[in-house]
Amino acid sequence: MTTAIYPGSFDPVTRGHLDIIERASRVADRLIVSVLINSAKNPLFTVEERVQLLREETAYLPNVTVDSFDGLLVEHARKHGAHLIVRGLRAVTDFEYELQMSQTNRKIAPEVDTIFFTTSLEYAYLSSSTVKEVAGFGGDISAFVTPQVEKAVFAKIAAGRNKMR
Ligand code: COA
Repeated sequence: MTTAIYPGSFDPVTRGHLDIIERASRVADRLIVSVLINSAKNPLFTVEERVQLLREETAYLPNVTVDSFDGLLVEHARKHGAHLIVRGLRAVTDFEYELQMSQTNRKIAPEVDTIFFTTSLEYAYLSSSTVKEVAGFGGDISAFVTPQVEKAVFAKIAAGRNKMR
């Protein structure tokens, strides 16, 4: 049985991430989408909220589960008996960073390999930060995220503004 981990910040999950999740779920027997608990980033959503949104968006995929992790990715993979890490490559600019990460991970855990999915063309420019920036200026983000995530993003932004008043 092939177990794969798709790690990331998912703040919030975009249509680009969902595209990768759906395609990776056809390759692996079991796909675990893992939200990184990352104190270095200043997220819009809590880890629990991101996990919940991902669970709702992937509920139709029976072999996909969602969890969170901190510490080393390869240790998290080992804990789940996963030998594959899934990452998406959007453009050549992603390549150097991803290469470095996958080579470091293999040095630490030689049994864990990384497979890359080339992001579908329509999402090649997309990032979670772009979604948040456009939404912050009241722009239309419906092409980037699902209706459910769109609602959650605008609710969060509105709540943040109310708090500052
Ligand atoms: N569609 C849309 N956006 C995408 C995307 C896709 N297919 N693929 C990547 N992105 C965007 C993300 O939205 C994110 O945008 P943001 O920076 O605006 O939030 C950005 O690309 C970064 O991607 P993400 O997948 O969140 O990666 P990351 O760099 O935050 O985290 C980990 C990558 C989790 C794999 C890495 O940090 C990690 O393994 N951490 C654990 C510690 C560890 O083991 N370190 C050693 C590894 S060398």
